[in-house]
Amino acid sequence: MKMLIFGGSGRTGQVMKRAAAAAGWEVCAPAHAECDLLRAEEVSRCVLESGAAAVVNCAAISGLEACLDDALSAHLVNAVAPAAMALACRHTGARFVHLSTDYVLEGHRPGLKDESTHCKPANVYGSSKREGELQVAEALRESLVLRVSWVCGNPDKPAFTESILSKALAGAPLDAIADKYSMPTDAEDIARAVLELLPLSVSGVLHLCSGGEPLSWHDCAVIVLQHAAALGALPCVPDVQRKLLSQATFFREVRPRHTAMNNARLTSLGVLMPSATQALQRITERYLRAAK
Ligand SMILES: NC(=O)c1ccc[n+]([C@@H]2O[C@H](COP(=O)([O-])OP(=O)(O)OC[C@H]3O[C@@H](n4cnc5c(N)ncnc54)[C@H](OP(=O)(O)O)[C@@H]3O)[C@@H](O)[C@H]2O)c1
Repeated sequence: MKMLIFGGSGRTGQVMKRAAAAAGWEVCAPAHAECDLLRAEEVSRCVLESGAAAVVNCAAISGLEACLDDALSAHLVNAVAPAAMALACRHTGARFVHLSTDYVLEGHRPGLKDESTHCKPANVYGSSKREGELQVAEALRESLVLRVSWVCGNPDKPAFTESILSKALAGAPLDAIADKYSMPTDAEDIARAVLELLPLSVSGVLHLCSGGEPLSWHDCAVIVLQHAAALGALPCVPDVQRKLLSQATFFREVRPRHTAMNNARLTSLGVLMPSATQALQRITERYLRAAK
């Protein structure tokens, strides 16, 4: 059976492509140049002509500053294009899975958020993604909208976790923001969960993330560095200077502070996720293997 994957060159999309192919899917993943998500009619044509039984959208303009600088493109790629995919899937009968984000949540209150939590995005990226969620649901009620967070674990597309490991291995000074919280999630767990969810008759919004308590970037850094040291890749656990979000002057867009999600609905469906600590430890091992 054929799976059409949008965003196959991205951090999550690369891993999704590999996992789907390994699970026996015939994967088709048009490159940006072959199907520009700024053009909804190209997106519709691509789905309608694909013959795909499943369409998975891993594409987005995911940079917060990129969305701030070009809100129209963010709206077209993050909201209009997914709606066109969903509508086309309504015609073809394909299963549609769309990735969204914890940044649709307001993020003022500490603690874990479930799917019933009120959405109030704090930035252009979050607003475009929330619009995408709503438009997808309206175009195809049977769509599955999976909110993911702090995607890491693809050594070819380093995230915060891989960057801190790389700096630590190079002996560089380390710092990390200690007052912003979410749930780091391994791209490999996301891809596995998508494959497990495809045959289930579940629709609507699901929080797809690791389990456990909210972690800051500083917490994540300490976990990966402790594990790297325990594995002998570092002589000791290096010190990581704690920074405040307000000190990150290179961020021009607002970041929500407390968006860690609760994955109880996902796990109640039998899709099990590791704890964030277990995920970070696995990611560390994968990064160290790839760095050899
Ligand atoms: N990364 C995270 O921590 C994170 C956190 C929460 C939610 N998410 C969500 O998870 C999903 C995957 O994120 P990611 O980090 O894996 O994404 P990513 O690495 O930024 O990749 C984005 C993908 O979208 C494609 N794309 C962007 N604009 C396009 C356009 N106009 N036409 C065609 N393709 C286009 C990119 O292709 P090119 O590179 O070729 O342009 C790339 O393949 C997204 O829905 C994102 O919102 C991510």
